[in-house]
Amino acid sequence: MRISDVQQEILRLKKEKDICILAHCYQSPEILEVADFTGDSFALSVKASKVENKTVIMCGVRFMAETCKILSPEKTVILSNASAGCPMAEQMDKELISQVKEMYPDYTVVAYVNTTSELKTVCDVCVTSSSALNICRKLKNDKILFIPDYNLGSWIKKQLPEKEFKLLNGCCPTHAAMSADDVKKAKEAHPEALLLVHPECKSEVVELADYVGSTTGIMEYAKKSDKMEFIIGTENSIVTHLQLECPDKSFYPLSKDCICHNMQATTLVDVLNCCKGTGGEIIEMDEETRLAAKKCIDKMIELG
Ligand code: 13P
Ligand code: SF4
Repeated sequence: MRISDVQQEILRLKKEKDICILAHCYQSPEILEVADFTGDSFALSVKASKVENKTVIMCGVRFMAETCKILSPEKTVILSNASAGCPMAEQMDKELISQVKEMYPDYTVVAYVNTTSELKTVCDVCVTSSSALNICRKLKNDKILFIPDYNLGSWIKKQLPEKEFKLLNGCCPTHAAMSADDVKKAKEAHPEALLLVHPECKSEVVELADYVGSTTGIMEYAKKSDKMEFIIGTENSIVTHLQLECPDKSFYPLSKDCICHNMQATTLVDVLNCCKGTGGEIIEMDEETRLAAKKCIDKMIELG
């Protein structure tokens, strides 16, 4: 089958079976083309909670499908490829954070959305990369235990010197692999280009950036900018998407190795198999976990 034949079959099946397809913006162009919604993980889950479809396929990683299930318990939520996890979300579990909380009982636990639903049950408020600064600023408590991403936490901490932060040692192995040396080399090769990076990058990279923001933030910035060249410090799929959306501009990866193999695990045929009912994994969640995890998402919506 050709790519376009598979896409046609997916479009036919999703109509016939009342399916909504969500695709995180790190997915491949052929998957983004068949999706009902594309964007960052939390925005996708909110959009899915507002549609009538009974079934939702999340093309992304496990915590994204879990977030979707937390917000849409009545829907069948399918993770497009059962092996697609987020290494950062799997670095810390409920037991570890419960112990850390005992050491810092007067701290508010702020959890990046890249955490498991189990872990969210013991956290106070959830954040995305685009809402983290605003939400940490608005918290009444000035003592914040930020988990799991050390780099995102450090970036927020620097901007809120009036607050006291405790950070743990989690990170995104994909973003944290980029260094100031990569920046030096990329700027030497493209001296006119602006550097746009995700806050999951190390501070030595973030400090050199012209813009720091979420994946959708980076895309919007590049599209609106009157500059013509950009070095992109996030998953390299964003370089491809920006090249397709802005063919007159030039986009270069900060590192050729910035590839999230979990995000790239889903293929177009996986999406087809999910539509047929023969692939992916249906997310199951007990109601107690869902309600406890939802509390910290509701707190984010209230503050955000
Ligand atoms: P965004 O929320 O910026 O889409 O990030 C998700 C992610 O996994 C980044 O690595
Ligand atoms: Fe997780 Fe990093 Fe992959 Fe995002 S890029 S899904 S944070 S491992």
